[in-house]
Amino acid sequence: MYKLVSVFILLIISSFISAQCQENLIQNAGNRSIQSLNGKWNYIVDPYEMGYLDYRSVPYDQNLKSPERAFYTNSKPQDKTERIEYDFDKSPTLLVPRDWNSQKENLFYYEGSIWYKKSFDYVKSAPDKRLFVYFGAANYRSDVYLNGKKLGFHKGGFTPFNFEITDLVKETDNFLILKIDNKRKADEVPTLNTDWWNYGGITRDVQLIETPATFIRDYFIQLKKASADNITGYIQLDGSNKSGVPVEVTIPGLKLQNKLVTDANGYVSIDFKVKEIRRWSPQDPFLYDVNISFAGDKTIDKIGFRTIETKGADIILNGKSIFLKGICMHEENAIRGGRAYSREDALLLLNWAKELGCNFVRLAHYPHNENIIRLADEMGILVWEENPVYWAIQWANPETFATASKQLKEVISRDKNRASVIIWSMANETPVTDDRISFLHRLVDTARKMDNTRLISAALEQHATKENEMVRTITDPFSEFVDVVSFNQYIGWYDGLPDKCSKIKWVIDLNKPVIISELGADALGGMHGDSLTRWSEEYQKYFFEENLNMVNKIPQLRGTTPWILVDFRSPRRVLPGIQDGWNRKGLISETGNKKLAFYTLRDFYIGISKKYE
Ligand code: GCU
Repeated sequence: MYKLVSVFILLIISSFISAQCQENLIQNAGNRSIQSLNGKWNYIVDPYEMGYLDYRSVPYDQNLKSPERAFYTNSKPQDKTERIEYDFDKSPTLLVPRDWNSQKENLFYYEGSIWYKKSFDYVKSAPDKRLFVYFGAANYRSDVYLNGKKLGFHKGGFTPFNFEITDLVKETDNFLILKIDNKRKADEVPTLNTDWWNYGGITRDVQLIETPATFIRDYFIQLKKASADNITGYIQLDGSNKSGVPVEVTIPGLKLQNKLVTDANGYVSIDFKVKEIRRWSPQDPFLYDVNISFAGDKTIDKIGFRTIETKGADIILNGKSIFLKGICMHEENAIRGGRAYSREDALLLLNWAKELGCNFVRLAHYPHNENIIRLADEMGILVWEENPVYWAIQWANPETFATASKQLKEVISRDKNRASVIIWSMANETPVTDDRISFLHRLVDTARKMDNTRLISAALEQHATKENEMVRTITDPFSEFVDVVSFNQYIGWYDGLPDKCSKIKWVIDLNKPVIISELGADALGGMHGDSLTRWSEEYQKYFFEENLNMVNKIPQLRGTTPWILVDFRSPRRVLPGIQDGWNRKGLISETGNKKLAFYTLRDFYIGISKKYE
């Protein structure tokens, strides 16, 4: 009886702890990591959730009678008579970070739950240290346990989450167990239907983070909107001694040293005037060393300072009108197969974008890993980040909104100090209804409240006017709430043939910048024919020639992000011998070969550069 009561009390405490800790993402986690948990994890495929539900489908979390059946207790038979029907240590292994689909042929299409287990030892570096476990991302739902106790859960396949494990971790033989469930669901974000592969698993880095008892958990340090000399933001401490703490911010490159004192909540706002700041830009992606410290803790980050705003139809970077020479990309390393996650993957993708002549990338349709954001900072590539509110989301469902809002907050929290990120995109190709406008408008409010320094957009849809099919316009009321009007159009692929482009007239009476967030056509790399042979490289090239000529006539055009850099896997693309499970709109094939249209777009950007630089 005693055992049951103590387990029950621990469950209550850990659920409280998990409720708190999950909201408090650790900023600049990579700078604090003390132990990586990347590598081989044992796994158990569990399509019937037998490690989580009893035979009456009651979660073992609530059914204490037979906890040994719950996989997260990692139970072993105590004697020869005991029946335990699982054993992580005798189970096979998966690599973390990596999706499971591209690691095992029998998991290629798998959608369901897989249990992961990692054992680790940990010796505190000092008695008062705190310990967190930090996950870069896991798709889609993660239920997380340490040493048989539930830490909490996280929903969303593309944003980080962390839990404090100070009071649960032991010196040896800790077992960290996750149940990852990538089943698609109508009320989730994204919903059931997407045009990308539903890669499941622990898809990004896992690390242990040790901190002092009171530490610098979060900070936001950027140039104030439309200011070239005013750095603003805040610092947030976490811990029992966080109030009234003298904190110091130094930026040696600016000869700046500021002493501040936190308030009762461990919070202090920042407001510095600076002279001669070397502003970050694609031509000069300069990053300052920023040191934040107080008696008990310090963290160092590399931060670029730039301004981004709109003025009428212009996008103004550091006071100068720019054109966003962009390309869309999924988070996939098509050559290796599977989700991209590493710095090497990011280098492959961004180097291709650079070869194309891009100064901008649209990271579709969900937040990508932090490696590519940090690399974009270093390489001087501007970034569009997107919340996975894609297609037919359940607009009237408050749970769905909460999930969408939480994922948006998580990506803004993680990347708010990255100069390369200039646009937060709320959604992609969503139907115009009152519920959807309200849903997206509330997301805009959420984003602006967290970060009023960046631009807001969303990939909308264009429509023909009632009077004339050849006259196209943007009638989406949501365009009122964004800074940049972006829309996808496929005239010449889904809508007529490429010669239709020259017959189209665009009438967009919005005094805002316009980005064509998608235009594209499929081509099987290496397939050749005349310019009207569907799926040939020549057709794709003709499509780009006609499309770019057409959109370049839009007076407010200030950017294009054609769909898409590289062919990518999609279960929706099944044409034998041509698609075979791949969306072929890439300008580069899944084997890394550039198609004819790659050079068409590159030449277009060379022409644009002459006009803008
Ligand atoms: C849509 C959508 C993409 C999709 C593309 C296509 O615009 O935004 O996610 O892959 O069209 O049909 O190829």
